[in-house]
Amino acid sequence: MYLTNSIANTLFLALFFILYHKSFATPTILNVVDLGAKPDSKTDSTAAFSTAWSSACGSTNPSTIYVPAGRFLLKNLHFSGPCKNKAITVQVDGTLVAPLNYNVIGNVGNWLLFEGVDGVSIRGGTLDGQGAGLWACKMHGSNCPSGATSLGVSNSKNVEIIGLKSLNSQMFHIVINGCENVKLQGVNILAPRNSPNTDGIHVQLSTDVTILNSKISTGDDCVSIGPGATNLLIEKVDCGPGHGISIGSLGKDFDEAGVQNVTVKTVTFKDAQNGLRIKTWGRPSKGFVYNVVFQHAIMTNVQNPIVIDQNYCPGSKNCPGQVSGVKIRDVTYQEIHGTSATEVAVKFDCSKIRPCDQIKLENVSLSYRHHAPKSLCSNAAGTTTGRVEPTSCLV
Ligand SMILES: *[C@@H]1O[C@H](CO)[C@@H](O)[C@H](O)[C@H]1NC(C)=O
Ligand SMILES: *[C@@H]1O[C@H](CO)[C@@H](O)[C@H](O)[C@H]1NC(C)=O
Repeated sequence: MYLTNSIANTLFLALFFILYHKSFATPTILNVVDLGAKPDSKTDSTAAFSTAWSSACGSTNPSTIYVPAGRFLLKNLHFSGPCKNKAITVQVDGTLVAPLNYNVIGNVGNWLLFEGVDGVSIRGGTLDGQGAGLWACKMHGSNCPSGATSLGVSNSKNVEIIGLKSLNSQMFHIVINGCENVKLQGVNILAPRNSPNTDGIHVQLSTDVTILNSKISTGDDCVSIGPGATNLLIEKVDCGPGHGISIGSLGKDFDEAGVQNVTVKTVTFKDAQNGLRIKTWGRPSKGFVYNVVFQHAIMTNVQNPIVIDQNYCPGSKNCPGQVSGVKIRDVTYQEIHGTSATEVAVKFDCSKIRPCDQIKLENVSLSYRHHAPKSLCSNAAGTTTGRVEPTSCLV
């Protein structure tokens, strides 16, 4: 009797030990299909994803939300923190599909939003924003919603997005806002060249963001860099069609955070409207752009390969006759080569009251069909090193 009890106790303890260690050591896997999601592209799977997030976020155990192959229809969904968990992986083999009726998510800001999280890794997967209906509505000028960003990451830190594909967003594909330490790698973004406002990746009010090894073809900026972006690295990105890698538009508001420490290196632009662009509104502002390096870019048939435009005033509304208050200082262009689709391959159109200074050109060679390309400068000062073609107009 005594012996039997002792064996039972030992077994009980052993079992307890195994379960205890299992729950604290191995990641919990939350398969959305087990929670009711249907990979049939027509059943609304929002609730299942939401349940998976609540479990992952509420757990102290590393958790993986797993989305198997298939098409999962999702309405707008917030993955909100703060979480108990600092190790959540969202592993996606399948495709997340937005509602075909653009009105369902057209006014909510973001289709999928990670907000207030710390330690999230999003791996793989395709987002299909099904934006064509909304673009058609906008192009016909009728009463259309503004459209949703496909994937937003807000007020978060330590987030990585790896191997994600984003198709046909209604508005922007990916927006990083108010974040710290975000890494995007191997991202593939695709929308038609005439799709309105479909910026690829927009970064603002964020520090330590890197965008690596990515391919972006879309209807607006491939990457747009808004106010308050600091310590941003963009490397090995192919852009085109699209409106280029743009710092701006900045200076729409008077009180605006500046942009500082941006490096863009080893990038290509093909059949793009712009290459390397800085754009500010022609309006008073306390904004600035300091310390930017553009290095190793190849341009193929790009309309404005190198451009600073400080006279942006769309529709000539609320800014005619005003000048930009944004100060642009210390911008370096090194090893920029290829072909311009227009005669003016380099344009520095800077502010009359806050001229651009410390612009540096080193080894720039841009050609324009069989003609000599031109540079245009106004209120721009700087230096050149090595071979620079078209001839610099910096003073
Ligand atoms: C920009 O880089 C410089 C030099 O590395 C650094 O001292 C400064 O703090 C950075 N600025 C911001 C806003 O992080
Ligand atoms: C510019 O070209 C010169 C001559 O080929 C080379 O020595 C120099 O390293 C180049 N500059 C950069 C930043 O690559």
